[in-house]
Amino acid sequence: MRVFIAGASGLVGGNCLKHFTEQGWEVIGSYFSYHLPGTVFYNTLDPEHAENFDIVGWKPDVIVHCGAMTHVDKCETEQDESYKQTVLSTKNLIAVAKKCNARFVYMSTDYVFDGKNGPYREEAPVNPLSVYARHKLEAEQMSLKELDNTLVLRVTNIYGDEARGKNFVARIVDQCKNNQKLTLKLPYDQYASPTNAWDIARAMFVLLRDGKTGIYHIGSTDYMNRVELALRVLQYFPDAEYDLIPMNTEELNQPAARPLLGGFVKMKFSNEYPDFLFGNIDSYLKKSLTVTA
Ligand SMILES: NC(=O)c1ccc[n+]([C@@H]2O[C@H](COP(=O)([O-])OP(=O)(O)OC[C@H]3O[C@@H](n4cnc5c(N)ncnc54)[C@H](OP(=O)(O)O)[C@@H]3O)[C@@H](O)[C@H]2O)c1
Repeated sequence: MRVFIAGASGLVGGNCLKHFTEQGWEVIGSYFSYHLPGTVFYNTLDPEHAENFDIVGWKPDVIVHCGAMTHVDKCETEQDESYKQTVLSTKNLIAVAKKCNARFVYMSTDYVFDGKNGPYREEAPVNPLSVYARHKLEAEQMSLKELDNTLVLRVTNIYGDEARGKNFVARIVDQCKNNQKLTLKLPYDQYASPTNAWDIARAMFVLLRDGKTGIYHIGSTDYMNRVELALRVLQYFPDAEYDLIPMNTEELNQPAARPLLGGFVKMKFSNEYPDFLFGNIDSYLKKSLTVTA
């Protein structure tokens, strides 16, 4: 299998690049602004860019789209940029996928739901609350409409190993390791299914291997709010100094509205892959802290 991953310098794309390569697939991943060694340049907003990797010439069987503007509040205040990074980039990659007759993978989110009664199954009615969420849904629906063979993975609250260590869990771990005092104002009323990017890569691998299409909800065995997630990480650092201020979403006054009861029921995936084991935040931390100790 030949797979091109757009956005392999990021959290999900980087884990997919590593896992698929380890599994023996031919994989090329791209970066945009952060040159991760072993990746090629590709700008999804400018398919004619002279420095772009020649995807069509390489003839991939699959194109995985991991690029997006993931800063939800920034999307709310910079709507044009959000549209470009999420909807236009997808439109451009779909056109490339059509040219090389490749299957397409789109990464979506639980933010397509309004969070009134999560965790959600795939059939639940969507109702995005924010600009980011509306753009993710638009790109998801376009992918499914334009290409019969699209696979959509809806994911949420991702953590894991990544070159820049910028995810929520990695940042807490980093600050604890560097003996920096943390001040965390976190919502106790936003629930999701925090998931290791490595498990997303593993799940995507089996779905692609088996030629699956359509929407799949992918989440770990954890279901918790942000305060609980932070505390689960902090318990591995008994000497950490921190002020953790639990707040509700209204008090936080974030620019973009959040689904409160988000996250997933992944029964569809589990029915098809009953032996597939997802890790959780504890298994991830135990392993990564042992490795780096
Ligand atoms: N992280 C989460 O908790 C979460 C939750 C739900 C859904 N998702 C979705 O999952 C997907 C992957 O998220 P992530 O957390 O892995 O994101 P990420 O770590 O921020 O990575 C985004 C990637 O997109 C690339 N990129 C940005 N602009 C680009 C452009 N114009 N052309 C080509 N590449 C571009 C970035 O490259 P450079 O860094 O090199 O510029 C980076 O490799 C996204 O679609 C996101 O919406 C993420």
